[in-house]
Amino acid sequence: MFVTIEGPEGSGKSTATETVINKLRELGYDVLKTREPGGTPISEQIRNVILDKDNKAMDGRTEALLYAAARRQHLIEKVWPAVKEGKIVICDRYIDSSLAYQGGARGLGIDNIVDINMFATENTWPDLTLLFDIPPELGLKRISLNKNREVNRLDLETLEFHKKVRQTFLNLAEKYSDRFVIIDASKDREQVAQDALDAILKRLCK
Ligand code: TMP
Repeated sequence: MFVTIEGPEGSGKSTATETVINKLRELGYDVLKTREPGGTPISEQIRNVILDKDNKAMDGRTEALLYAAARRQHLIEKVWPAVKEGKIVICDRYIDSSLAYQGGARGLGIDNIVDINMFATENTWPDLTLLFDIPPELGLKRISLNKNREVNRLDLETLEFHKKVRQTFLNLAEKYSDRFVIIDASKDREQVAQDALDAILKRLCK
């Protein structure tokens, strides 16, 4: 099963995912945790280029293509082999981040971003997508309080940009309602992790 974790900045998705993965392993599931952009040496190098705060001249389409390139390499080297071995692959961000950030917030258009990603992924959609939903004001406040977190190029975008990201994620959840589950990430940490675990277990039992 291929599970993706999506949500805006400061939604607490990475912390909740750690807890969920530990619980799944305790239950005996073979889980691979990975992330985008990154997850393999080549994709991590692409990540550094995309997120470098000094790359202010980066064009939106260049950004979208780099995310898609990192995604393809990551699928080939990590995701596809693990799914083939019967593992549960849990990936922090995937195609819906490109649809929300590049397609929606950057205004490149959802259909254009779907097109380049269908080429990059050979039509690989996740089996389940958990959307950690939080108002951007709250998410951005959380990341500003987290002194250990490195600020990246996309964090520096305006509140307006982050509002568009959230709205596009919610639109995608409605459009692809068969694979999306919305998790209310403004709840306390334990509840958020429990809701995410319940959603994965429910899908596994289907
Ligand atoms: P993160 O590792 O903190 O989630 O940071 C990755 C950043 O990249 C985050 O701001 C979301 C953004 N992103 C996109 O804009 N498009 C994508 O396709 C992906 C995977 C991430």
